[in-house]
Amino acid sequence: MIKVRVPATSANLGPGFDSMGLALGLYNYVTAEETDGGLVIDILDESRKFLAKDERNLVYKSMKAVFEKVGYSVKGLHLTLENNIRVTRGLGSSSAGIVSGLVAANAMSGSQLSQEELLFLAAELEGHADNVTPALLGGFTISVKQRNQIRYVKTELKDDLRFAAFIPDFYLQTKKARGILPHSVSMRDAVYNTGHSALLAASIMTGKYENIRTAVGDKLHQRYRKRLVPKMDEMFRNCYEKGALGVYLSGAGPTIVAIVHRDNTEFEINMKQVLQQKMPDWELQMLSADNTGAVIL
Ligand code: HSE
Repeated sequence: MIKVRVPATSANLGPGFDSMGLALGLYNYVTAEETDGGLVIDILDESRKFLAKDERNLVYKSMKAVFEKVGYSVKGLHLTLENNIRVTRGLGSSSAGIVSGLVAANAMSGSQLSQEELLFLAAELEGHADNVTPALLGGFTISVKQRNQIRYVKTELKDDLRFAAFIPDFYLQTKKARGILPHSVSMRDAVYNTGHSALLAASIMTGKYENIRTAVGDKLHQRYRKRLVPKMDEMFRNCYEKGALGVYLSGAGPTIVAIVHRDNTEFEINMKQVLQQKMPDWELQMLSADNTGAVIL
């Protein structure tokens, strides 16, 4: 029996569209057991209402991708999923599903694939690497696909940052949130994002946190997606009023993440009051960074 733990992730961080991501201390667990035949998938939480429990299940499909690649055959499988990452909310639930399946299947079939191979496979299954890289490796990551490999840098996040995830009570399909984006952008907007994403990466890595508010600026996706996330501007404004270092739409949304310094101990209580008074449909989860990524327990 193999049990895998995979963290939630938050992608883009504003300007780093499809390339930047970070891992959060919120986890999904998958237990995988070989059996004498058939496929049984038990889902222990609310996500059972939304996720497939047959061959269409993402964890299973990812396991199958590994088995096919390494030529390993199983008679049957029993999977038990314990999902703490809310589905379709912009916190990397699909990446967690993919990475947990790949890591579990690789362990089951004799660990024939390297981390680099698993990462490439994960990015192929997900379509981009910004969530799967931190889900597999933890920390703050920048990744770019180059032919048949993912070029990435992972750095550990320091313990002085907290990530406030504001999760609304509606979901948003990534496909829809990508479909709303323009096919081309102006040179001006492209240049804006190039500079801001470079500044953000360097500022996070060197601890120059006073830059973050400027550096999370984005002109490629957030302003289009705002239409799909009512109260986005209001949430950004409130977070900045309560001292957030930077605020951005997490992945394709609808979750909004505020980066907060550990010393801003009032942030959580202040924002919970704001939610209670003005935005009761949003939930706040205060999370720390995860620097470990996927682990076999
Ligand atoms: N970079 C992706 C997007 C993240 O913004 O569409 C969602 O998977």
